[in-house]
Amino acid sequence: MNSDWYYDDFNQIGTDFTDIKEIESYDQNMSVRDFDYEANEILELLHIDKSSIVLDIGCGTGTHASIIAEKCNHIYAVDASKEMIIYASKKYTELSNLDFFHASFLALPPNLPKLDAIYTLIAWHHLPDVWKVESLVKMNSLLKDKGRVLIRDTIYDFDPIAFKTQIAKWLEYGNSLGNSIGDSFKTQVKEEYCTYAWLVEPMFKKTNFKIISKSNKQTLNTNRIVTIYTIQKTGKLNEYKSSK
Ligand SMILES: C[S@@+](CC[C@H](N)C(=O)[O-])C[C@H]1O[C@@H](n2cnc3c(N)ncnc32)[C@H](O)[C@@H]1O
Repeated sequence: MNSDWYYDDFNQIGTDFTDIKEIESYDQNMSVRDFDYEANEILELLHIDKSSIVLDIGCGTGTHASIIAEKCNHIYAVDASKEMIIYASKKYTELSNLDFFHASFLALPPNLPKLDAIYTLIAWHHLPDVWKVESLVKMNSLLKDKGRVLIRDTIYDFDPIAFKTQIAKWLEYGNSLGNSIGDSFKTQVKEEYCTYAWLVEPMFKKTNFKIISKSNKQTLNTNRIVTIYTIQKTGKLNEYKSSK
């Protein structure tokens, strides 16, 4: 049971993914992405095979999870929006090794088995930085030894002095895609908790992960805005004993 000071990450910040209109338009707009490419990248970087137990956090409409389900033993897909989980479960009913749960980074389903791999795509930035660290602590405890995590997210990989120029370029690109995609990029920048690569990298180290790979190579023109990390658990975190 969490204390009342603990962050409630079921509350949507920025884009409201509990709104069915928002979910439908997200599903439609995401056709600009190459899901097969992204899913193959996950399979490869996380070494997922037919024996792997996998967790997708912030699964959205479930497209990646449905592709990965074909290649792994079992996949759990969770999202903080109950409406998103209902939408995804209706879309992918036929896969017996894919389970959807209404759950979040900080409130994952109890009794999950030990995991080989976790991935999270464009969702981690919904947590403020301190709570990103807390989510890594939780991921560490759920993973098997040497388990891997892939994080693809809006993580700025440039120096602070380039901030205005890089963001302006990204928003211009978003606007060129139409369908209010530029507006959703703007919401991420303005209202959600996108952060810098040079801030998250020490977070990985502190929570006993090492960086296996880092890439800015994109299927969309989001160079230095979206970063993909593969990290690997290097050991358990020791229980903290407070001194009086
Ligand atoms: C931009 S969508 C990405 C969905 C999907 N991963 C994809 O790549 O298309 C972000 C998703 O993260 C979910 N989300 C936001 N905060 C979350 C949290 N704290 N825990 C789990 N899911 C969260 C939202 O409800 C939404 O479905």
